[in-house]
Amino acid sequence: MAILSPSILSADYMHFAEDMAQVKKDGAKWLHVDIMDGHFVPNLSFGYSWVKAMRAVTDLVLDVHLMIDTPIKYAAEFCKAGADYLTIHVEADTPENIDKTLDEIRALGVKPGIVVKPKTPAEAIAPYLPKVDLVLVMTVEPGFGGQKFMADMMPKVKQLRSMLDAVNPGCHLEVDGGVDLTTGEICKENGADVLVAGSAFFGSADRADFCKRIEK
Ligand code: DX5
Ligand code: ZN
Repeated sequence: MAILSPSILSADYMHFAEDMAQVKKDGAKWLHVDIMDGHFVPNLSFGYSWVKAMRAVTDLVLDVHLMIDTPIKYAAEFCKAGADYLTIHVEADTPENIDKTLDEIRALGVKPGIVVKPKTPAEAIAPYLPKVDLVLVMTVEPGFGGQKFMADMMPKVKQLRSMLDAVNPGCHLEVDGGVDLTTGEICKENGADVLVAGSAFFGSADRADFCKRIEK
């Protein structure tokens, strides 16, 4: 059993609300929202007013992935905007500020998450594992949808699942980037239980079937 988190980055922006409603009809429970600042990653996407607008029209679990520098400056705004999970990159600030940001997110009633880029080892997030509700392993370099899945991230997924089992067994382990029905299976075998899918989900001819099969 896994959870699909469709990435709204791959939706049709002229029909955003319809796409969100359709995601729910297709059977998904989560929605992955990629926030990019043009500094931490070489791309721009949504700000917190988008999250607020999404919150107003959906009860999907909003899984907000911050790809921004110094998330401590903006985390509270995303919490207030209505994120359910708010995930920050370990590479985006000092260890002290990362720790503080995770605490702040929790204090605002939102579930904190920590992300690692492909070149960052699992050990880099070891200190935060007991205090998060979600760990995200990037299976592409963050910044763009539609990239090729990096199968060489699977040992890291496996390692993080066993590290989590020791200190925080209820924590979700999510993968993001290049996930489709085939690569999703590999991720599940290695211990991931939340699968982000952007282009594969939105490009699928039968999204309800995609959701059913990937969550199996
Ligand atoms: C990439 C983003 C992903 C992206 C995934 O930086 O974090 O969430 O939307 O898109 P696909 O599934 O197309 O790789
Ligand atoms: Zn993402």
